[in-house]
Amino acid sequence: MGNEIVYLNGEYIPLADAKISVMDRGFLFGDGVYEVIPAYFGQLFRLEDHLERLDNSLNSIRLQNPHSHEQWRNLLAPLLKEGLDQSVYLQVTRGVAPKRDHAFLHHITPTVFAMVSGINPHSDPDNGVKALSMEDSRWKLCHTKAITLLANVLLRQAAVDEGCAEAILCKDDYLTEGAASNVFAVIDGVLMTPPKSPAILPGITRDVILEIARKNNIPCSEKAISMDVLRKASEIWITSSTREIIPVVELDDKIIADGKPGQLWKTLYKLFQEYKMSLR
Ligand code: PDD
Repeated sequence: MGNEIVYLNGEYIPLADAKISVMDRGFLFGDGVYEVIPAYFGQLFRLEDHLERLDNSLNSIRLQNPHSHEQWRNLLAPLLKEGLDQSVYLQVTRGVAPKRDHAFLHHITPTVFAMVSGINPHSDPDNGVKALSMEDSRWKLCHTKAITLLANVLLRQAAVDEGCAEAILCKDDYLTEGAASNVFAVIDGVLMTPPKSPAILPGITRDVILEIARKNNIPCSEKAISMDVLRKASEIWITSSTREIIPVVELDDKIIADGKPGQLWKTLYKLFQEYKMSLR
């Protein structure tokens, strides 16, 4: 670690040299937002959608976007390696303030950071992953992609401690999303996912899957899903920019259908790969 080039406040420098002040409000308060954008064959995937979501996240924390979409595109391009599949992490915090004060101090410059890492999505048609259901202990602004991720971190770790790949979260016995993913279920042949609301992050992968499903006449619905209904699903998937679409074959020690990735997952996975190739 240390040699890869990252972007920090206008400079491209080795990771080991990228330093911020301990007075950065991101460090002291988790006062910032982020994005994770996959890049396939060296090209950013659905960049405009990610940048629009970044605009929404910044608006919701009352921080002006320091860059136009064009500037973001130019800023991220030098980090990408031609022909490779990677993922870009970018973060904007409210910046370095002269003193620690919960209230914003105006006229400070946001801190902008971006780095790239490898991407390794699930592609094993014979096996899926286990998930653990847990009470969603997060705040009420989950549609904001805030860097303040302590609840998500604790939930994911609790799942990992039980040998699971993801925590599937519920509020008042209704599914919200995963600790770092959206959730889909196949119920009576219909592909279902909870509707967009402040209770979930509006996932870009989620949008792409719904788009592909509708284009291919696969029945789908964005409706609230009770945990009882989820437990009877014939398929459950988790989706995100870094993991694409992963079939969940066990939820809380209960095997889903026959414990193998389902037919609709196989279909959507293939269609998703074809869509990626079509953008090449
Ligand atoms: N997280 N919900 C949550 C809470 C997430 O953190 C993520 C992604 C998603 C899926 O969103 P998208 O399809 O746009 O990646 C849903 C990223 C990958 C992360 O935090 O690393």
